[in-house]
Amino acid sequence: MSVDLELDEKKFEQKLDLLAIRIPRELSSSITRLLNGYLLDKPRIKPIVEDPECEKNRLAILSERIQSTDLSEIPEQILESVKKLCEIEVIPHSLTLGYSYWGADHILKQILPPGVEVPSSFETTGHVAHLNICEELLPYKNVIAKVIYDKNQPRIQTVVNKVGTITNEFRVPTFEILAGKKSMETEVKQYGARFKLDYGLVYWNSRLEHEHIRLISLFKKGDVICDMFCGIGPFAIPAAQKGCFVFSNDLNPDSIEYLKINMKINKVEQFVKAYNMDAREFMKEIVEVPPGEDKMEPPVVTSIEEDKDDFTSENGSTNDTGGSNGKCVDDSTKVASAASKRRAEISSEECCSTDGEPIKGKRKGNKRIRGGVNIESACKPWEHFDHVIMNLPASAVDFLDVFNGLVQKKYWKGDLPWIHCYCFIRASESNETLLAVAEKALKAEIEEPVFHRIRDVAPNKAMFCLSFRLPKECFQEDNQSAFASGDSIS
Ligand SMILES: C[S@@+](CC[C@H](N)C(=O)[O-])C[C@H]1O[C@@H](n2cnc3c(N)ncnc32)[C@H](O)[C@@H]1O
Repeated sequence: MSVDLELDEKKFEQKLDLLAIRIPRELSSSITRLLNGYLLDKPRIKPIVEDPECEKNRLAILSERIQSTDLSEIPEQILESVKKLCEIEVIPHSLTLGYSYWGADHILKQILPPGVEVPSSFETTGHVAHLNICEELLPYKNVIAKVIYDKNQPRIQTVVNKVGTITNEFRVPTFEILAGKKSMETEVKQYGARFKLDYGLVYWNSRLEHEHIRLISLFKKGDVICDMFCGIGPFAIPAAQKGCFVFSNDLNPDSIEYLKINMKINKVEQFVKAYNMDAREFMKEIVEVPPGEDKMEPPVVTSIEEDKDDFTSENGSTNDTGGSNGKCVDDSTKVASAASKRRAEISSEECCSTDGEPIKGKRKGNKRIRGGVNIESACKPWEHFDHVIMNLPASAVDFLDVFNGLVQKKYWKGDLPWIHCYCFIRASESNETLLAVAEKALKAEIEEPVFHRIRDVAPNKAMFCLSFRLPKECFQEDNQSAFASGDSIS
């Protein structure tokens, strides 16, 4: 049911009968100082205004508390100081505060039933204000939207309300447009990158900005990233801007449309390759060795054992914060320290030849100095990638089985990749519960998992990022055929 309340703007008019004193224009500042505390004090209203009768004068509007024309509410001492500057002429002054003056909160309080929580705050995505109107206030949704729209011009151009819960696999809520422009296409900025999106067609959550930044801070220039559930690119685009190469995938064709637009407007087209398929198929596709490449001499495989000391601190001790129960660690700095160690290795290897000269395009694994390169020519993901992003918290862990037997040992170069798998953990569950599910999917034990808490999404449910290095047991050995053992987990 909708109460089709016509918003009668006249109803919000309030007339104030006040007093003012006429003062010479040049004394405005001095008199304002002397009458401090006795002038009209209302947000967005100036207490000193032009005198309609004489342009040499101005009017100092007095506080609502001052109602006597002899100004007896103002201390004698202050009046004496004013009188030393000019003669005091008191005149009546009336002021009408209308609909345009009042804030959304004030107006909605008068419209909505007493005692209800007034929905005057909202989230925004670009020019779109996103309301989440509770059941009780649904009959008032149109009038609420109109007030929010009117009061937030020109920043807000469209007001929408979320309808029902998200059930589709693209994680896009259903919205109804209640006020303003009918388009939900908008643009947002995050850490220097611009993102175009249609809020009604693709997933977007501004509250993930810090998490996007945190994860990208673990990547280094030249890293190869696989983003299995990329949306419109909030990880992919800034990572590419940082100098990473990104294989970026999403099942939603609209997300990929906007990802491509965002690659263009952020000028990172040659560093991102977009895919529109199921995440599992995407991972299989990018590690498939192209015909021709498989006839080449398989590279010498770097010993994974040698890289096991990633989390070893400078004095040689294992960098364990001791904050875990069991083997789960709650400290993402471990990922960062391992990444920075590797960063130091790469920059020295990549940037200089033995005689100290820079070498363009010299590689270890896929590492290559940028400059005229593009992702196609610079990266061979069947040989190496550094990080995998899996931001589909409701079910990303169920996709981990794809890594069991995914990369072929005979082609792989360097360290195995970091996997960053987002998940929800309920109050009744522990990190170990989630870890057990992940290990079952991988059919391998995860060493030194790092759990990073992102935010509470409900009273008993929080979003986490589980980061770990892909266990070497996940390698496809030379005698195995690809994906033979990739059972899905229940
Ligand atoms: C939670 S959103 C994350 C988007 C983006 N990474 C971000 O941080 O804003 C999850 C994305 O996964 C996509 N998705 C859902 N199921 C998928 C699947 N089976 N394969 C690939 N993408 C999928 C959805 O379309 C959605 O864009």
